[in-house]
Amino acid sequence: MIKRFGLNLGWKLGDNFMDDSDIICACEEITYGEIKSAVAGGATSLEKVQEMTHAGTVCGQCEDDLRSYVAQLLKK
Ligand code: FES
Repeated sequence: MIKRFGLNLGWKLGDNFMDDSDIICACEEITYGEIKSAVAGGATSLEKVQEMTHAGTVCGQCEDDLRSYVAQLLKK
């Protein structure tokens, strides 16, 4: 995976390529592991994940990636 400055730059390669410490939302410093925990903790939609983590609630730049990751995690 290509990363710059520790940020995921939009590659949607799936869970097998993500580390729990990868930052998904730079504004709120929310990691992939925190997104996984929100889904495991009962979040059933992007909106619920945002409510639980605040990811994607500032500039919105991460929202497309966040939506993809949440969709992938909900399929499991
Ligand atoms: S990078 Fe996620 S809200 Fe700005």
